[in-house]
Amino acid sequence: MQHFWWMESVGYQIYPKSFFDSNDDGIGDIKGITLKLDYLQTLGVNLIWICPFYDSPMVDNGYDVRNYFDVAKEFGTMDDVKELIEQAHQKGIKIILDYVLNHTSDEHPWFIEAKSSKENPYRDYYLWHDGKIVDGKKVEPTNWGSFFGGSAWNYEPTTDAYYMKIFDDKMPDLNWANPKVQDEMILIAQKWLDLGVDGFRIDAVSHLDRAPLEDARANEGEKYPLDWNKFSNLPRVHDYLKRLAKEVFNQRECVTIGEVGGAASIIEGIKYSAFDSKELSMVFNFDHNWCNNLHEITHPKKLKTNVKALKNVFDRWQTAFKDIGWLPLNWLNHDQPRLMSQYGDYRYPLASGKMLATALHMMRGTPFIYQGEEIGMTNFPFEDVSQFNDVSSIANYRYHLERDPEDPVTALRKAALNSRDNPRTAMQWSSDWYAGFSRVKPVPLVNPNHKKINVKRNLSKKNSLWYHYQQLIDLRRNSIYKEVIIYGTYELIEKESELHYAYLRKDDERTLLVINSFSRKKSTFDLKNYQIIHRVISNYPKTNIKNAQLHLKPYESIVFEVKENL
Ligand code: GLC
Ligand code: CA
Repeated sequence: MQHFWWMESVGYQIYPKSFFDSNDDGIGDIKGITLKLDYLQTLGVNLIWICPFYDSPMVDNGYDVRNYFDVAKEFGTMDDVKELIEQAHQKGIKIILDYVLNHTSDEHPWFIEAKSSKENPYRDYYLWHDGKIVDGKKVEPTNWGSFFGGSAWNYEPTTDAYYMKIFDDKMPDLNWANPKVQDEMILIAQKWLDLGVDGFRIDAVSHLDRAPLEDARANEGEKYPLDWNKFSNLPRVHDYLKRLAKEVFNQRECVTIGEVGGAASIIEGIKYSAFDSKELSMVFNFDHNWCNNLHEITHPKKLKTNVKALKNVFDRWQTAFKDIGWLPLNWLNHDQPRLMSQYGDYRYPLASGKMLATALHMMRGTPFIYQGEEIGMTNFPFEDVSQFNDVSSIANYRYHLERDPEDPVTALRKAALNSRDNPRTAMQWSSDWYAGFSRVKPVPLVNPNHKKINVKRNLSKKNSLWYHYQQLIDLRRNSIYKEVIIYGTYELIEKESELHYAYLRKDDERTLLVINSFSRKKSTFDLKNYQIIHRVISNYPKTNIKNAQLHLKPYESIVFEVKENL
C-alpha cells in the first residue's frame, strides 16, 4: 500500500467565525487562527481544515461564495491568509480549505450575469428551467425539495425562469455539465494550491450531477419531498472528479476529502476514494452521526446511544476500506450538534469524553478534531428562536411549528437539539467575559458554561480531556505505537456486546487491544485470550483486573499492548 503524508496527520477543523477574534470586533478571523497556531501545535495536530472565509453575503455562513479569490472583510485580507499559511508551514502544520463547488452565492458575478438574459454567456453556468403549468398556474419544473426546506427551485422574474438550488434560494447550483464551469473551478483550486494550501475539504461533492427532471415521490400532504436520489452520487459526478483529480489534485501532493452526504453508502464512498478511484483521497461520511435517538427526543437527558448500531457503522467502513482506501476519522463537524451532547454522558463528562476520543483515535484513518471537542464543549441552551443564526435551524423550527402550531416550545426544543448553531458557538478559551474569544460582545453565541468548560481550565488540570487528546495525538504521531496505530489492521471483537466497542489493531510487530465501555454500568471484559504487555492509555488512573477479567468502570476506556494467546 502506498503511504501518503496525510495518512500520518492529525487534523483539526476550524470554523473561523467562532474560533478567535484578533481585533475585537466580535467576529473570529484569520489572524485569530494565526495567533492560535501555538495552541494547535501544543495540542499536537499538524493539519487544519478551515471552513470558508471567502467573500460572501453569509447567508450560509460563507458556503455562499461571492468571490473565490477574496477574503470576507470580517475575516481579514488575502495577506492575512498568506501569513497564516506561511506561519503554519513553519510550524509543520498543513492547511486545507473548503472548496465549495456545487453552488455559488446569487451575488457571484457569474450569477448576476446569468440571470440577466437567456442569451448571456454565463447563462449555462447554472441550471435553468421553465416553469410547469398546472391548473393554469406556473409552478416549479419539479416538486423536488431542498436541504434547507421548501422547493429545490427558485423563480427568477427577469427571464421568467427557475434555477435549481438544492440548499438556499441564495445559493444557485452550478451546472457541472458545462465544461466552462469545470474550467473555472479548476482555476480556483489551482490558484489556492499555488498560494500554498495543502488540499481541500470538498463541500457537497456528491451533488454535482442531477437526475432527469421527473417528480419525486411525495408523501400525503408533502409539497416538496427531499429525495436525495435526484441529486446525489449520480454517474457524471465521477467524470467531473476524475477530471479535477487528473488536472489539479494529482499534479500535486495535495489531500482531498469529499463531503458525501447522508445518503452515501460505503459502495459510493469506495467509488469516490478507493486508492484506484483516481478521484479523491478520502470521503467524510455521516453514518455514525445518526446512531442515537436525537431526532425523537425533546430533552437532552433522554438521549440514548445505540451502541450496536454505532459500532456496526464504524466496523463496516473500517472493514470495507481495509486494503483499498483510507478514511478520515471524525465524530462531527460544524453541521452537527456537539459530540458531548450527542454521544457523551452529562453525568460522566470526563470519562465519557475521553472514552469517545480513544474509541475514534485508535481506528485506522486520519483523525479530525472539531474545534472545542478537545475541551468537551456542549450544545447551547437555546431559549428563543431568535438565537438561531443558521438558515437550516430556522427552517427546521418552522417545519416543527407548522406540524403543531400550538406548541412552539416543543418546536424550539427539537430544532435546538439538532441545530447547526450548536457547534458554531464561540470557542471557549477561558472563563473570562465572552469566554476569552473576544473582548467585545461576540457575534457568535457564547455558551454560559464557558465558566467551567474552557481551554485555560483544561490546561491547568493534568487529567483533563485536553491532555487526553494530546496524549492520543502523541501516541499516533510520535510513539513506538505510531506504525500500528496508523497502518495496522483493524478487527472488531466482542461483536455482540451492547456495552463495549472493542477492537484490535495489529501489524507484524505489535498488537493493540482497544476497549471502550459505552455504558454507565460497570461491566467485565474477558482478557483470557491476551497477555498484557503494557497499558498504553486509559481514562481512569487504576485498572482493575482479577482472574483475567477486566472490571470496567462507567465509560472506562483502555488500550493495552498485548500478545494474543493463540
Ligand atoms: C455542506 C456544509 C454546510 C453547508 C452546505 C452547503 O454540507 O458542510 O455547512 O451548509 O454544504 O454548502
Ligand atoms: Ca475579528
